[in-house]
Amino acid sequence: MAGFTDAPFRLLCRRFGADRTVTEMISAQAMVYKDQKTAVLAKIPSGDTRCAIQIFGHDPAVMGEAAAMLAAGDYAGASYVHPPRAIDINMGCPVRKIVTSGDGSALMQNPALCGQIVAAVHRALLPYGLPVTVKIRAGWDSTHINAVEVAAVCAENGAMEIAVHGRTRNQMYAPSSDNGIIRAVRRALPDSVSVIGNGDIRSGEDARRMLEETGCDGIMIGRETLGNPWIFSGVRAALAGEAYVHPTEDVLRRTAMELIEGIVSDKGEERGVRESRGRAAHFIRGMRGSSRMREQINRAQTLEELRSILEREGTD
Ligand SMILES: Cc1cc2nc3c(=O)[nH]c(=O)nc-3n(C[C@H](O)[C@H](O)[C@H](O)COP(=O)(O)O)c2cc1C
Repeated sequence: MAGFTDAPFRLLCRRFGADRTVTEMISAQAMVYKDQKTAVLAKIPSGDTRCAIQIFGHDPAVMGEAAAMLAAGDYAGASYVHPPRAIDINMGCPVRKIVTSGDGSALMQNPALCGQIVAAVHRALLPYGLPVTVKIRAGWDSTHINAVEVAAVCAENGAMEIAVHGRTRNQMYAPSSDNGIIRAVRRALPDSVSVIGNGDIRSGEDARRMLEETGCDGIMIGRETLGNPWIFSGVRAALAGEAYVHPTEDVLRRTAMELIEGIVSDKGEERGVRESRGRAAHFIRGMRGSSRMREQINRAQTLEELRSILEREGTD
């Protein structure tokens, strides 16, 4: 998730039970222009062993070139301790700035182009033995629900895994995600292509429902992770029929601080503290005194200030 799934956050998700992770989306165009600011997004730290790198764009040649750069590790500023698990293509982002450039979910309006992009990325990755995966939505709007068609074109052109968010572009993030379209994609594709169900999984019960209702091969969890990377342990416990105990507020605050330290270490104090404010807010949501804490966090300028806010509240 753009703005959230940086390396320190992905490591937390892995520690708390995620099988796999995906980077924030990276502009293929920016990569090909050798934009340095983007390179920090293509960082795979020690322990993030099954991380896919997601790219977005609409030009098959540019997407292929960016994929090859990532596979070869030929992108100045990018750094991997582990090679990427896959290169993932974003065909789901609904944000206006992205779709007006013809990127993200706008691609679903042109299934033939989706196929060309997947084919170009697949071809570029063949020498490296890396798979291409795709993230789609249900379709553009309620009169253009074409996830089955787009998924089939992607599969025919080499995608080995397709994640489906059961909303259209126009729905953005509400109302609720439709598991029916995920089931339809699963039924339409050969077994050799994995289908990952995504949308509104906030509990073990939601995860079980997604698996049962759709027959999908795996699940993807987005927003719930933001203040609750333990969701992965919760889902694992629920699926195994085991009890799950959510961490205490102390653990939540300490983990938020650990995340902030990681962000500051990667991005420097000024940018790191600025970016951490919203990130910490997700962890303290619902705690006693959280609105006062959030105000203090929003005013904090240094790592030490953030630490004293999160630790002070912990001793109340
Ligand atoms: C702030 C934000 C940023 C996101 N960025 C990305 C992204 O970069 N790539 C992507 O495939 N999906 C992105 N998504 C979509 C999520 O991956 C996911 O498909 C969506 O939130 C539905 O799943 P959820 O209900 O589990 O959150 C983003 C969502 C949010 C809220």
